[in-house]
Amino acid sequence: MILPGADTQAFAAALAEATGETLGRVEYERFPDGEHVVRVPEAVAGERAVVVASTVDSDAHVQVLQLQDAAREAGASEVVTVLPYMGYARQDEAFRAGEPVSSRAVARAISTGTDRAVTVNPHEPAVCDFFTVPTTAVDAAGVLADPLPENLEDPLFLSPDEGAVDLAVTARDAYGEGETDYFEKDRDYDTGDVEVTPSDAPIEGRDVVLVDDIVATGSTMSEAVGVLAERDAQRVFVTCVHPMLAGNALTKLSTAGVEAVYGTDTLERAVTEVSAAPVVADEL
Ligand code: R5P
Repeated sequence: MILPGADTQAFAAALAEATGETLGRVEYERFPDGEHVVRVPEAVAGERAVVVASTVDSDAHVQVLQLQDAAREAGASEVVTVLPYMGYARQDEAFRAGEPVSSRAVARAISTGTDRAVTVNPHEPAVCDFFTVPTTAVDAAGVLADPLPENLEDPLFLSPDEGAVDLAVTARDAYGEGETDYFEKDRDYDTGDVEVTPSDAPIEGRDVVLVDDIVATGSTMSEAVGVLAERDAQRVFVTCVHPMLAGNALTKLSTAGVEAVYGTDTLERAVTEVSAAPVVADEL
């Protein structure tokens, strides 16, 4: 039985359809002091329970732990935890003295209530090693080609930094044609400002698809879109697995001149155009 967190209901429904497993009804409530409680009214005794929740904020983290515990309490034979978007995954080391490795802290906590875990394109796949149960990261970059127009002009699939170039290659392969390349990126961690340096690939007159694991504040992608516009790209598309789109990210992208923004349903946003659930279903 698939048990969704409150913010991940569409993904859970898509996963239920892709796996053929029952989509369980979960009730979400809060006590007057603000604390969460979840309730799983249907019987899961003797069944596999698949807890599905993008840990997009602290409340979602608590709900994952509660759903795992409710499933065990109800006698589930196995608990599998799917984190379509794993929160804190980008805090994968202690960047300054005195800081925690936050992704390790949350991975350990989530591990206590599950037999195994699956996540989608964490920023660094190595975060899977922080879990204390078997954990795999699946790659959904292939589905990012689906919403793109069929008539891209001399397409160039670009990642904003070298670390994401594999995603650009996967999206290009799924699209079926095009060149791939990557920008060099520098981020000032005090101000959040991003500077990208274009590659040598010719841009003028081409359609460019920017591919990344996540668009968070939009600083990286809007900077990249601006550089491509200055170089007379024809159209620039932004596509990512996790469309976090915090604050004014969409406005930044629009004013930079993006043609369209696409993301998957690991985070349910207005730009969500494709589902990563079939890729997760294959792993289950
Ligand atoms: C970092 O290297 C990631 O791949 C993304 O490029 C980054 O996290 C995006 O963040 P933002 O949208 O805030 O620039």
